[in-house]
Amino acid sequence: MSPFILEISYLIGSISFIVGLKMLSHPETARRGNIYAGIGMLIAIAGTIFLYKNSEGQGIGNIPWILAAMVIGTVIGYMMAMKVKMTAMPQMVSFFNGMGGACAAIISIVEFNAHSGHPEKGFLAIVFLGLAIGAVSFSGSMVAYGKLDGKVKDARGNMFVYINNLFLLGLAILIGIGVFNPDMFGHSLIWILLAASLLYGVLFVLPIGGADMPVVISLLNSFTGVAAALGGFLYGNQVMLTGGILVGSAGTILTVLMCKAMNRSLMNVIVGSFGAAAGAATSADGDKVAKEINATDAAILCAYANKVCIVPGYGLAVAQAQHTCHEFEKQLAQRGVEVIYAIHPVAGRMPGHMNVLLAEADVDYPKMLEMDDVNPMLPNTDVCIVVGANDVVNPAAEEDPSSPIYGMPIIQVSNANNVIIMKRSMGKGYAGIENDLFFRNKSRMLFGDAKDSLGKLIGELKEL
Ligand code: TAP
Repeated sequence: MSPFILEISYLIGSISFIVGLKMLSHPETARRGNIYAGIGMLIAIAGTIFLYKNSEGQGIGNIPWILAAMVIGTVIGYMMAMKVKMTAMPQMVSFFNGMGGACAAIISIVEFNAHSGHPEKGFLAIVFLGLAIGAVSFSGSMVAYGKLDGKVKDARGNMFVYINNLFLLGLAILIGIGVFNPDMFGHSLIWILLAASLLYGVLFVLPIGGADMPVVISLLNSFTGVAAALGGFLYGNQVMLTGGILVGSAGTILTVLMCKAMNRSLMNVIVGSFGAAAGAATSADGDKVAKEINATDAAILCAYANKVCIVPGYGLAVAQAQHTCHEFEKQLAQRGVEVIYAIHPVAGRMPGHMNVLLAEADVDYPKMLEMDDVNPMLPNTDVCIVVGANDVVNPAAEEDPSSPIYGMPIIQVSNANNVIIMKRSMGKGYAGIENDLFFRNKSRMLFGDAKDSLGKLIGELKEL
């Protein structure tokens, strides 16, 4: 009976992953999707711990150790998730992803040690691939975590490209030797491969620009998924296989979508130099003058508008201005102004960054419109308020073929009748380039921290 119940628990786990993943694609259902997938995972793990029996009828053993490790992991994960700031979310995702890679690598080591003698080639290929991919994902994710946290500096240079390609070739040769001539290095091969893979993970991520880390983390996430799926093959465990394949394919799709939304190829992310170095390609804006607006005039402009569009960006996350922004929206709505939010797919620093922030502040989901839906509405919009966004509203992406962001789709705020840009200075955004929007006729700069500026606008609206 118990093998049947175990299979059912795996089926429930697999279905909950698929349903949960589907629900993650919409802000309204994402939270529940996460919970469903988590419950499915718990059922599958509990099934494995309490119901699994091998061909000799033995259970998995070491149950007190497993439960103790689960409790420790749960407490650490819970504390990290509760403490993390929204701006530090990519670091946490990177850290958790690294742990997944490490688990996959450890599974390979344990299984290799458990099958001494001359196991078959298919088994060896899965073990070595799982080890290499898991270890690369672990060390790469740790470097990505360090970079995002400002603890590890970028190390650029073409030299890395050559070294990394050689390393990749070396890894492939080692795996080939391990599969086809396992006696050549004997048992030590697994440790040589582990050390080489860990080093490759570090060298792979080290030269990538710190600001490109979200794309790299998503790529490493897909590596972890593949490594976990290989573990599923090893154990003949369907739920692990399904989970791994889902993570692997979701990570790959997300990586491709991010690159597309930035109009860059994955190769350009890996070996390119977006960001500070790209500044060299910008035009000089020395003669241009940006016009300022004060909070009183900005509040009057918004209060007497029919339609206002708020365009949030990374600065909203830095200022933690989501709640103040929602309050500002409610003040306008009370005066009969129609307010919408325009969400660019790569606004902020991680996929869905703006949706998550605004959802945290209880902004109604139907008010958050995607770029393609909002752009046609902008010519009929009285005021566009850009809150801490820069690159995602930069007209150079459409107008200047020499710009590093040329071809990236943008929110076309300059089509609105008035544009108010909230930021602290004339500073550049992530791509490190000037933004001509600031100097356009319809544009006005409202300088200051986004939360402070929105607070002032709310105060002014209440006075009107
Ligand atoms: P950015 O272009 O990075 O611009 C953010 C702006 O916010 C800065 O110009 C900064 O100007 C301002 N700012 C910072 N702190 C502020 C504060 N406390 N109050 C007010 N303003 C503040 O942001 P974006 O428009 O959201 O574009 C995102 C960029 O990240 C894109 O280039 C995208 O390709 C890239 N990227 C995104 C992702 C994902 S998945 N979202 C992944 C990788 C890369 P001041 O310093 O003058 O205030």
